[in-house]
Amino acid sequence: MIEEQSAAALEFEDIQAPVLRKRPLPYFGAFFVLRIDDPTDGREMVRRLVPQVASAAGSKKPADAAQINVALTYQGLKALGVPQASLESFSPEFRQGMAARAEMLGDLGESAPANWEKPFGTQDAHVVLAVVSGEEAALEQRLDLARGSQDDLPGVSVIYQIDVGMLPTTRTHFGYRDGIGDPVIEGSDSPAYPGQGPAIKAGEFVFGYHDESGRLPPMPQPEALSRNGTYLAFRKLHSHVAQFRQFLRANAKGPEEEELLQAKMLGRWPSGAPLVLAPERDDPELGADPQRNNDFGYYDEDPKGLKCPVSAHIRRNNPRDALKDTLTDVNIHRVMRRGFIYGPMLPEGATEDDGAGRGIMFVFMGTSLARQFEFVKSQWQNDGNFVGLDEEKDALSGPNDGTGTFTIPKRPVRKRLHGIPRFVTTRGGEYCFVPSVRGLQWLADLDT
Ligand code: HEM
Repeated sequence: MIEEQSAAALEFEDIQAPVLRKRPLPYFGAFFVLRIDDPTDGREMVRRLVPQVASAAGSKKPADAAQINVALTYQGLKALGVPQASLESFSPEFRQGMAARAEMLGDLGESAPANWEKPFGTQDAHVVLAVVSGEEAALEQRLDLARGSQDDLPGVSVIYQIDVGMLPTTRTHFGYRDGIGDPVIEGSDSPAYPGQGPAIKAGEFVFGYHDESGRLPPMPQPEALSRNGTYLAFRKLHSHVAQFRQFLRANAKGPEEEELLQAKMLGRWPSGAPLVLAPERDDPELGADPQRNNDFGYYDEDPKGLKCPVSAHIRRNNPRDALKDTLTDVNIHRVMRRGFIYGPMLPEGATEDDGAGRGIMFVFMGTSLARQFEFVKSQWQNDGNFVGLDEEKDALSGPNDGTGTFTIPKRPVRKRLHGIPRFVTTRGGEYCFVPSVRGLQWLADLDT
């Protein structure tokens, strides 16, 4: 029976597109944060958005369409008038909000909520609206629709906006190709590439389906609101590019060694070629080939991390088969990510900070913020115990403060770099709920 149910067909037309579909490349877009001061106006805005929201039933080629997608914080659900019994059925971490979880997430010092850009971490961030397109021309029209959903409603205000888009290099600010490693969702009908791992049960990412335990994950109530929905963690992550380049220069002799160190920190060369398959030098053809660039494991190919350090970003965040001999089930900690670049590039070769804001708007989706996003962030990224490295943090995106280490296994002796600075600062973030299209309609129809 469970088997039959777990294979239940995903209701594509009801699930918001980004939950199942990758973002386009190139992409153009903006994120808006809105505050609802009047529930009637808030519901009217949601009603207007419902027919505009992109579902996963749309084109499987995301480049074709401009998309509007909607997520709400706990405060946002409250502001729309969601009944108390329903509010209480959401998970504790979602109800507390990201700012309340800061210590566990490593958001301390300059990343602490007290230093976040407003309205993040306040009670005012209610709705997150994402408008993203594969074509610049299609973006304007969608932006108008998004603005038109609320600009005559005095009880709804846009309180934050940030533009996002691909850099001319097509890479992240730190110079890496991104968007390679994502889990395959069972029944999602998206292309699966070698090395992506076993298809993960849909209930890990969408409410209303069986998860890896064979059960239905606990769903917020009523089902009309939560079925086909999911949780989302949204973070504005500033990249300290100048410091990153200075660090590479200070710890390597010459450009070749710098690029190797850059690769060791991530586990992939800037082109995306994985170190396990290309340990000596970059292989741009491999990096660009989705049939090959993910097709590797660690357990047999690189048990000691001589090719890809056990502390490298991709190995920590998705250890694949490396933890086979432990009790950890990696499939219950897979993270569905969508990264959106903001801010101008620091010119190639520059090593002085120009003061510009630049980084990634990071989006994680899944049915358990605690078991997926928070676990990966706190246990695998911010701690090194699970790979025998005590407190060593992810050198690229961990909450380093200038005192940490980065270990590079090597024969005859390992290399250990000291004094790892912080390369990524959290400038804000929110936990959200992504309702289905029908769930949004349910919110619009509330008459509390
Ligand atoms: C500004 C901060 C970050 C940067 C610049 C960054 C960059 C990257 C890059 C370039 C890749 C390799 C491309 C790919 O495999 O898709 C990657 C992979 C990945 N990152 Fe991050 N990342 C950041 C933060 C995070 C955070 C906060 C998490 C999770 C909590 C995370 C989880 C992952 C995962 C799961 C992978 C895929 C690993 C795999 O499947 O092999 N990253 N990241």
